[in-house]
Amino acid sequence: MVAPRILSGIKPTGRPHLGNYFGMMRPGIEWQDRGEAFYFIADYHALTTVHDPVAMREHTRSVALDFLACGLDPQKAVLFRQSDVPEVTELAWLLTCLTPMPMLENCHAYKDHVAKGKVPSHGLFAYPVLMAADILLYNSNIVPVGRDQKQHVEVTRDLAEKANRIFGPVFTVPEASIVSEVATVIGLDGQKMSKSYNNTIALFEEEKVLRKKVMSITTDSAPMEAPKDPTTSSIVALFRLCAEPAAVATMEDQFRAGGLGYGEFKKRLFEALWERFATFRTRRAELAADPAYLDNVLAEGAARARAVALPTMDRVRKAMGLR
Ligand code: ADP
Ligand code: TRP
Repeated sequence: MVAPRILSGIKPTGRPHLGNYFGMMRPGIEWQDRGEAFYFIADYHALTTVHDPVAMREHTRSVALDFLACGLDPQKAVLFRQSDVPEVTELAWLLTCLTPMPMLENCHAYKDHVAKGKVPSHGLFAYPVLMAADILLYNSNIVPVGRDQKQHVEVTRDLAEKANRIFGPVFTVPEASIVSEVATVIGLDGQKMSKSYNNTIALFEEEKVLRKKVMSITTDSAPMEAPKDPTTSSIVALFRLCAEPAAVATMEDQFRAGGLGYGEFKKRLFEALWERFATFRTRRAELAADPAYLDNVLAEGAARARAVALPTMDRVRKAMGLR
């Protein structure tokens, strides 16, 4: 069997958080040994919200560094910047012409925006089409993402199938891969952890900030002696992601038994998180000290990505009668 092509993207909209790590980065890193993995920093997508060029550049580098620090191996996986292969915007236009408006009107990011009374940009509306172009340009088979992105992969599949019906077999039809046990990482306030909700714990938080954030996790006001429900607690949910199963079982039992306050459990969570990312922290500091290394990784990644993208574009243009 040929190795599958795996592809995913992450927007440089801020520092990656635990949701990004457990939902997308860690599964992506695991995939690098099982196929040809392509990961990119989705700066074109981030332009829907980031309009500060200095922040865009800084976040792009910091997302790439975080990814490398967590174990992405550029010898195995291709790491690149989306805008280094601008042909993706051409493919997005070609797909736009096949995309029914109602399909995009039904997409949740757009719907949520409108529901909040905000005026969406055309970029936000067309966002799923650019994402489809990302996926199809690189002939991807598997797209590891958090659950919130599943709908976008469905749009991609629909567009690929439609194009294949009209123009012949031009696109590979991809599948989403969602890591079910951590499909949604909960944030400090009990909602989904997201940069847009300001409830995140970044992967590489300073010690003091991390402690403060963990201590600020929202809980109910159950007194110390009362039994507590571990199944609805954000503390336990986050602890599960970073502690040994035995420590998790102990915490769950102690929740049910009562007698310990949330403060104690939060302290344990802080320690587990700090420990969990210790080796990655050291690695990140080393990588950050050598900016030329990252430049090289991204330049090489761009070259490898283009080598796949250009033949796809030739094939698609020809099939659509453009050349
Ligand atoms: P954010 O919502 O913070 O802006 P992104 O949209 O940049 O995050 O998400 C990048 C990747 O991380 C996507 O694959 C997304 O599904 C995943 N992801 C983001 N937040 C979470 C979360 N809370 N739980 C699981 N996966 C998440
Ligand atoms: N839309 C994704 C997000 O918000 C990022 C992304 C852009 C992506 N293009 C992609 C993910 C292609 C997977 C495949 O997280």
